[in-house]
Amino acid sequence: MADADPTALGTRDMLRLEDLPVFTPEKSAINTHKLVGFDSRDIRARPFNLLRTSLSKKVKESGLRLVGVTSATPAAGKSYLSLNLASSLARVTDQPVFLVDLDIRRASLAEEIGLITEHGIESFLEGEVSDLRRVGYRIEGTELGLFPSVRRKRNTAELLASERFAEMVEIFRSKSEAAIILFDLPPAFANDDAMISLEHLDGYLLVVDSGKTTRKHVQDVLAMLHPTPCIGSILNRYNGGFTDSYGYGYGSAHYGKYYEQVDDASGHSD
Ligand SMILES: Nc1ncnc2c1ncn2[C@@H]1O[C@H](COP(=O)(O)OP(=O)(O)O)[C@@H](O)[C@H]1O
Ligand SMILES: [Mg+2]
Repeated sequence: MADADPTALGTRDMLRLEDLPVFTPEKSAINTHKLVGFDSRDIRARPFNLLRTSLSKKVKESGLRLVGVTSATPAAGKSYLSLNLASSLARVTDQPVFLVDLDIRRASLAEEIGLITEHGIESFLEGEVSDLRRVGYRIEGTELGLFPSVRRKRNTAELLASERFAEMVEIFRSKSEAAIILFDLPPAFANDDAMISLEHLDGYLLVVDSGKTTRKHVQDVLAMLHPTPCIGSILNRYNGGFTDSYGYGYGSAHYGKYYEQVDDASGHSD
């Protein structure tokens, strides 16, 4: 029997932004979810512009392109930061940026952007959809491709530990040329999902929730996710201003070389 290609992408096919259906987010969704990264004139996009510069430099220097975004505990701002960082990055790179929602238990990116669709990345992982291009969307007028998760699942460890997951990562790796691919992951302490997914990725960004994430949390995450490299950290909801010191004492060699911060875009601390 001829080899059926389970991923429906032939050897010569590429995962190109141009082949994805175009989605136009509503202005109201962008405002409600403070998706400032889409608008270069929005002053709140500034931290993301700084962050993207650090990240694209890091990607160029190290060649690490498949990057997870995780945190110690939930609600640290991973999805908020991933979407804003990806959209900000997509405004300047000459390569596409793909953002994949792998927090399948608490999928949120589709909702944040107002995208209603039947199948997401979970359908690809379950084998219900055979072509990865059918679960990705190009955000109109941008170089950003979004692969949302739409039906929340509980048995995510099975999906992420599957052969299909490895195939999906391989497609992103080998068929996207030099695209930067961000994976919005679950928090590292919640379950095994972040750890399992990161075994296939090149590195991760650690979101540190100012005030909530402790030094011990950070040390434990680094140890837990070792040997996947932490390529940087993002201090979120920090209201001390750009020139203030961070007040954290960690700086281990594993911890990555740059620190960036994103202040609370709503203008108040919580
Ligand atoms: N820097 C920030 N400024 C304003 N709102 C934020 C910021 N970071 C996170 N949020 C909000 O906090 C909530 C939790 O963030 P989210 O990105 O969903 O967390 P996670 O993905 O880590 O669980 C969301 O409503 C998000 O919009
Ligand atoms: Mg999230």
